[in-house]
Amino acid sequence: MAAHNDVEAFHQALRSSRRILALCGAGLSASSGLPTFRGAGGYWRNYDATSLATVRAFRTDPGMVWLFYAYRRHLALKAEPNPGHRALAALARRNLDFMCLTQNVDNLSPRAQHPSSQLKCLHGSLYDIKCSNESCDWIQRGNFDDPFCAALAPASVDMPNGEPLPLLDPYHRVKHITEDELPKCPKCHRGLQRPGVVWFGEDLDSAMMMDISAWMNAEPLDLMFVIGTSAQVYPAAGYIDKARKRGARIVTINPEAEDEAEMFKVNPGDFAFGKDAAEYLPLLLEPIIGKPNADGEFEMS
Ligand code: OAD
Repeated sequence: MAAHNDVEAFHQALRSSRRILALCGAGLSASSGLPTFRGAGGYWRNYDATSLATVRAFRTDPGMVWLFYAYRRHLALKAEPNPGHRALAALARRNLDFMCLTQNVDNLSPRAQHPSSQLKCLHGSLYDIKCSNESCDWIQRGNFDDPFCAALAPASVDMPNGEPLPLLDPYHRVKHITEDELPKCPKCHRGLQRPGVVWFGEDLDSAMMMDISAWMNAEPLDLMFVIGTSAQVYPAAGYIDKARKRGARIVTINPEAEDEAEMFKVNPGDFAFGKDAAEYLPLLLEPIIGKPNADGEFEMS
């Protein structure tokens, strides 16, 4: 049996694969300059980033939660899709039996021209805005306002010469943002507008989940890519076992994938590449998508 990181053997497996699933996480966008949630990039001011992603945090201090998301919106708007996003988008255009599930809310995969019918944004989008009143169904898609509103302007400041943004310094006092300074829902006039992302304790969109199950159950799977995710958040991480049960060989691309502590996850026939997804995805997918042109783009079909 070939080694878990044998690119030639992987290319052979890829050539004979038709139904392919991917689960992407924050590591896919790391090379675009966007911080991950856990590990070194996981702190924002002195908050654990995951502690701000809850309904409770929003109820307690909507201004602070909004500042965190306003900063992420600004950063992602300035970031560019990287060769990893573009390679996955090219694979989707070449193979209609490829489905990509992303936990990322940064909009970089759509901006890389990933066909929307082959991309499920499990955790929503930073650029969708919803009402925080659970009984109101108002939603606005594709709001790219930056700053989102006047009170959130400190999150959209660009510092000269790459100096750190004062907002990111936990010792820099930020003015408390009151509820009155945040936009209200234009439909029910009761709830505050909030980011259209899934917070801990909230359900994923049920129609989207049903679509994914129908797709996975339609026919057996050949491969599943697990790209730049710590696979700690469910139900997203649960798709890995489900895909394995549907016959998929698992292909992990993550700088930690070949660490001794991670190797127990690699079953016979699986692949694990301890690499940067932006650098390695184009190489791994080359037999199907070819090489990028001088602009870094892959051929459209
Ligand atoms: P994490 O921050 O948990 O994991 C990011 C993973 O990316 C880690 O395993 C890193 O080793 C890996 N990584 C870092 N740089 C990389 C690179 N250049 N190439 C490939 N991999 C790299 O992020 P997620 O797994 O995406 O949910 O987190 C899942 C969910 O938890 C997020 O969607 C968010 C968060 O809380 C919600 O907000 C609901």
